[in-house]
Amino acid sequence: MKIILGSDHAGLDLKEKIFQHLRENGFSIEDIGTYTPESVDYPLYAQKVARSVAEGNADRGILICGSGLGMCIAANRIPGVRAVPVSDPYAAKMSRRHNDSNVLCLGARFLGQDMAMEIVDTWLNESFEGGRHQRRVAMMDQLPRFENSSNPDTSER
Ligand code: RB5
Repeated sequence: MKIILGSDHAGLDLKEKIFQHLRENGFSIEDIGTYTPESVDYPLYAQKVARSVAEGNADRGILICGSGLGMCIAANRIPGVRAVPVSDPYAAKMSRRHNDSNVLCLGARFLGQDMAMEIVDTWLNESFEGGRHQRRVAMMDQLPRFENSSNPDTSER
């Protein structure tokens, strides 16, 4: 699996730690920066990572900023990207199982290193369940068409 990694200045230290962790675990990694603590604008990094995942140059992306939120908003502007802001392993797991998330966004200013690694490992190891979730994920690529539709089967969870 090829992982593309990016951060702004606030996420730099955690990005370096995640890079080491992934390398130790045998992943193929591309690190698109930032590489220095100088202040930079997160949308530039989010866009690079998101485009790479959307175009199939990487299997998954990981973005780190102060809160994980700005990166997530920016990444989700790229069609085909399902970026999730995650702060616990349960959300990491469910975002893979039900939403087929392909970009993980982390907040370096409130996540400890151990929790961040647990989230990353959980997110990388979980699979998409498909089935009814596949239909729903496909609908997200066509959202304007579904503005007035309702769910035909109310027994589904
Ligand atoms: C930078 O101060 C901060 O705004 C950025 O890292 C991120 O948290 C934005 O959502």
